[in-house]
Order: sequence, then C-alpha cells, then structure tokens
Amino acid sequence: MGYKVVVVGATGNVGREMLNILAERQFPVDKIAALASRKSLGTEVSFGDTTLKTKDLDTFDFTGWDMALFAVGSGPTKEYAPKAAAAGCVVIDNSSLYRYDPDVPLIVPEVNPQAVHGYAKKNIIANPNCSTAQMVVALKPLHDRATIKRVVVSTYQSVSGAGKDGMDELWEQTKAVYNPTADVPAKKFTKEIAFNVIPHIDVFMDDGSTKEEWKMVAETKKIIDPKIKVTATCVRVPVFVGHSEAVNIETEEFLDEDEARDILREAPGIMVIDKRENGGYVTPKECVGDFATFISRIRQDSTIENGLNLWCVSDNLRKGAALNAVQIAELLGRECLKKG
Ligand SMILES: NC(=O)c1ccc[n+]([C@@H]2O[C@H](COP(=O)([O-])OP(=O)(O)OC[C@H]3O[C@@H](n4cnc5c(N)ncnc54)[C@H](OP(=O)(O)O)[C@@H]3O)[C@@H](O)[C@H]2O)c1
Repeated sequence: MGYKVVVVGATGNVGREMLNILAERQFPVDKIAALASRKSLGTEVSFGDTTLKTKDLDTFDFTGWDMALFAVGSGPTKEYAPKAAAAGCVVIDNSSLYRYDPDVPLIVPEVNPQAVHGYAKKNIIANPNCSTAQMVVALKPLHDRATIKRVVVSTYQSVSGAGKDGMDELWEQTKAVYNPTADVPAKKFTKEIAFNVIPHIDVFMDDGSTKEEWKMVAETKKIIDPKIKVTATCVRVPVFVGHSEAVNIETEEFLDEDEARDILREAPGIMVIDKRENGGYVTPKECVGDFATFISRIRQDSTIENGLNLWCVSDNLRKGAALNAVQIAELLGRECLKKG
C-alpha cells in the first residue's frame, strides 16, 4: 500500500537525486514514472535496484497518479504543473514559479510542516531555493529561542545549482586550463567559472540585487517570519556540489554562542561540527550525498549587541532540492493523503 509517484525532470541533476532519495528512504511507492523531454524518451534512469525508461512529459496523462515531484525549469512547469494538479495529482515543485503565490505553501519540513494543509487550494506545494532551504533549517531554532531581527548572508554556491550544463562547463573549463589549444567560453555562467568566483546568480533586479538574493529574502520571510530582515550576496564558486553560507545573525535577545551550539545540536536536520582546530569544520566536499545541513564556526559577533556568526554547508541537490521535495512528499502522505 503506497503511492503512485511521478518524477518530472528525471534525467536532470535534481530528478536523479529524487529517484535515489525515494529509494534510499524507502518511500512507499506502488508505481513510479520517470519523465523528461521528448529527446530523452527511453533514456534509462536508476530507481534503487531497478531501471526506469524515461517517458515524454508532453504526452503523459497524470490522471490516477497521487503526486508528481517536478524538477524542470519554470517554463515547462508553467505548462505542465497545472495539468497535473487539475488531474488530481499533487505537484511538489522545485522551480521558483509558485514559491511566492499566497495560495501555494512553501515548505521546509523541519521549519513549517503545518503549512502542508494549504496544499489543496491549488494542489501544488513549492520547494524553496537551495540556498534558502539550508539557511532556514539553521535559523528556525535560533529564532524560536531569541527572535531573529536581521540576517546578513554571503553564499558560496556550487555549479550543480545551475543544472547539469553548469557542471559540464566547470569540468570542461578546468580541463582547458591545462590544454593551451582548447577554448571553452562562458555559456551557462556570465564569466569563466574555473578557478574563479562570480558574484552574480540569476537576473539583476531594479535595486541592484540579483533575483537569487531576492529569493533568499522573500522565501525566508514566507517560511519563518515576515518580520525577519535579510540581506544576501550570492556568489557562484568552482565547486561541483555543496552550497556554503557565511551567516551573520542579529537577535532581539542575547544568545550565547554555547547555548546556540546546544540548540543547533538538538535541532532537526542539523549536524554541528564545530571544533576550534585545524579541520574542525565542514566544507562542501564532505557534505555531498548527506541529508544533514552542517553548521560550523559558531561564534559571537561582538560588533553588535546580540550577534552570532556561523558557517552553514549542505548538499544543494539534496536538502536544497531533492531531499526537501521527498520530505514534503512524506509529510503530505502522513498528514493529508490516503495510501493505495
Ligand atoms: N540544482 C539545484 O541545486 C536546484 C535547487 C533547487 C531547485 N532547483 C530547480 O530544479 C529544477 C531542475 O534543476 P536541475 O538542476 O535538475 O536541472 P537540469 O540538471 O538541467 O535538468 C533539467 C531537467 O528538466 C528536463 N526538462 C527541461 N525542459 C523540459 C521540457 N520542456 N519538458 C520536459 N522535461 C524538460 C530535462 O530533461 P532532458 O534531459 O530531456 O532535457 C532534465 O530532466 C529547476 O527548476 C531548478 O531551478 C535546482
């Protein structure tokens, strides 16, 4: 007795991880379909010990399916998610299309699981941006204890956040550095990403910030508390998988660094690795394939009255996308949908 589940974008970075995580967490699946674009028709993808042949999203009928985990861009989502939802299949969407829609819950299960009951308005639930997801997991328990007033965050985001083409571009440009006859111009990114960092993710907004930065502001407010002020600088770095964030937090009440460390140790979804010695912190390479959001470098910021600094690292394809979507599916199953 399980659910009939569709993974949309099954050949992509996030879709493949969704299939892996559904299998790893033994999500109760009665039937599963893997969809992508027509050009990938018949492409094989793994689901646990079995292999699925990819079907064409364009001709797929969602009638009779319980949930669809979407991991395609906003364009195809706009066309196909309403069709799936209208057919009675609950959409859990990874694109940014529905995140700010008041009739669509935006959920990180460790933070605002109660929002799941709002799914029925449109039969759609949104998954946040990868950088927001890991940050709010860390902020929520500190907010509950000391009320966060303001957050200043700088991100160090891996190229997998820009899809499989982003990973290919870093790989090809890195190899080309050692081959003087090769030239791999920037295509997915705005400047060369190999051996470089780029302070620009998504489009520019009127105020000079980027859309990625705006997403962190708007999504933190929607998920935790509209009163929290957030200012972000989002940077692409030449790392394949794993986003890192330097987070400065100002609270209403004083929160001692040791108490903050204890609170985070107890919080769901978090692993604290915080030794003040060489290597006593987590880097993105070590978090790949893990479920947790790792917190290191917890320390007082003595330049303000009630300030803390911390370092937050997570696998962006997992907590930042596929894991969070599967956790939402688990939550939806537990709270709202009948099996079988
Ligand atoms: N990567 C992250 O860290 C992350 C985090 C949060 C959210 N997201 C969001 O998740 C979504 C997927 O990201 P990704 O990184 O997995 O991208 P990706 O690696 O580029 O994969 C894109 C997937 O979408 C499919 N697709 C594209 N256009 C399609 C169409 N017209 N019809 C059917 N399928 C289509 C592709 O199928 P083909 O192989 O057939 O082209 C592929 O399976 C995006 O909305 C992204 O913003 C990503």
